[in-house]
Amino acid sequence: MPKNKISRRDFLKAAGITAAAAALTCSGLGYAATRSPEIEIAKATFGKENTMNKRILVTYATRAGSTAEVAAAIGDSLSQRGFAVDVSSVKDNPQLKDYHSVVMGSAIRMGNWLPEMVDYIKANQSALKGIPVALFTVYMQNTGEDETSRSARQGYLAAVHPLLNQFEEAFFIGKMDLSRLSFLDRMIAKMVKAKDEDLRDWDKIRDWASTVFASELS
Ligand SMILES: Cc1cc2nc3c(=O)[nH]c(=O)nc-3n(C[C@H](O)[C@H](O)[C@H](O)COP(=O)(O)O)c2cc1C
Repeated sequence: MPKNKISRRDFLKAAGITAAAAALTCSGLGYAATRSPEIEIAKATFGKENTMNKRILVTYATRAGSTAEVAAAIGDSLSQRGFAVDVSSVKDNPQLKDYHSVVMGSAIRMGNWLPEMVDYIKANQSALKGIPVALFTVYMQNTGEDETSRSARQGYLAAVHPLLNQFEEAFFIGKMDLSRLSFLDRMIAKMVKAKDEDLRDWDKIRDWASTVFASELS
């Protein structure tokens, strides 16, 4: 398993310094500094021909796009099991009433799921209690199999777990692409000496998608 030497504390410390720097900039510049480049994969439907089968939603929250690509791979794998699958950004506020089950995934920033996905879960809490739910997290730190790393990873979902009854979950190591970051995020990444690397394990991602919801969807 790949290890990364940058700790969450480093990210948080760098964020504090950059937040202070950002506070000094005027509001227009501040807005530009937090904007990420456009993400290409936003929406996809897999298994259109599987119209007689259960429909699954895969929704994701991303900043630099790597979580969207993981969501697309999960959607593709699920469709190969015969399901009709819609992959959609959480920013499109997908409606759950059309779906038998839902997979929700988020990138990690500063030790947490992205706020738009937490807000989506809060807004749909009662619907989510009635359908099978699976979660995936895309991250770069605390990648070890030791207890400290595992519990640090679980901590990324501290705001999410209490909102849900039952769920399956997976953690996938992600990608750092400095060119896809907002100015502020790039500053933080550079301060903790993060470098470009893509550590996504597509076999692991597809393996998980090929077994998730096994009991609910058999
Ligand atoms: C500013 C910034 C902060 C991050 N904070 C964390 C963190 O606290 N823990 C972690 O495991 N990964 C952290 N990461 C790594 C991202 O979660 C990882 O690069 C992920 O693949 C990004 O997903 P995205 O491309 O969908 O935005 C951070 C990355 C950036 C750029």
